[in-house]
Amino acid sequence: MLDKLGWKKSEKAIQSIDERVASLSQQDVPNHIAIIMDGNGRWANKRALPRFLGHREGMQNIRRITRAANRMGVGAITLYAFSTENWKRPSKEVEFLMRLPEEFLNSFIPELMDLNIRVEMIGEMDGVPEYTSRAIQHAMKETKNNTGMILNFAFNYGSRREIVLAMQRLAQLVKQGDLQPEEITEEVISDYLMTSKLPEPDLLIRTSGEIRLSNFLLWQLAYTEFWFTDVHWPEFTDEKLLDAIEDFQKRNRRYGGLKGE
Ligand code: IPE
Ligand code: IPE
Ligand code: MG
Repeated sequence: MLDKLGWKKSEKAIQSIDERVASLSQQDVPNHIAIIMDGNGRWANKRALPRFLGHREGMQNIRRITRAANRMGVGAITLYAFSTENWKRPSKEVEFLMRLPEEFLNSFIPELMDLNIRVEMIGEMDGVPEYTSRAIQHAMKETKNNTGMILNFAFNYGSRREIVLAMQRLAQLVKQGDLQPEEITEEVISDYLMTSKLPEPDLLIRTSGEIRLSNFLLWQLAYTEFWFTDVHWPEFTDEKLLDAIEDFQKRNRRYGGLKGE
């Protein structure tokens, strides 16, 4: 006979994804989820496979998670795909990562059109190979009239670099006399960041057990809820995304105020 806890556990296990999605409180589904897709290399290592196969498997998982987030009613997802620090990796690995947008995005476009999903990106195209920027720009162009979920890639992105670029542009405006220093507010700074068109993330997910931001969205995550899992990115499933969203829905976001106000 099952004890109370055992019964509850098995009940949760047999609840289908559809049932769980249906019972999410729709007004509390995070509007914007930022994901640090970490652990491709370790996923491969564990299987005695080369790291690049981990990246390929991770790339396939972007499809699954995009579909799942879309189905759950999420407004935007920002996926950390390549950081400004990832150039430190061996050139073979960097080259493989630079080929992924081309390999992945072109074949994904028909489905993105069906799902009405728009591709956006943050990061710098300066410095990435032509074939990489071409693939990203092509996906953005093809999907630009889609009005559903936003699939935002952080590629050759670093938050400090983003802040430096914003500060340089603001300083230039001040120098020209087009902006007074006291006119630089939080809103103005947000408007000059690469995320200016996106709402701030409600939920940040990082896979693979590392508890750090690795130069991701430092300004934008000021009041974001964080959720970490040991699961490597290629194995991060719809169920895990639901776990994160269900957990998010139990959080009490106070923004420095008091509970319930
Ligand atoms: C994340 O996986 C993908 C990128 C950073 C491009 P990693 O390649 O960082 O995998 P681990 O952390 O070495 O396992
Ligand atoms: C962060 O992961 C960058 C991406 C997921 C693209 P890293 O694997 O580069 O981060 P660190 O080196 O563990 O901090
Ligand atoms: Mg890593």
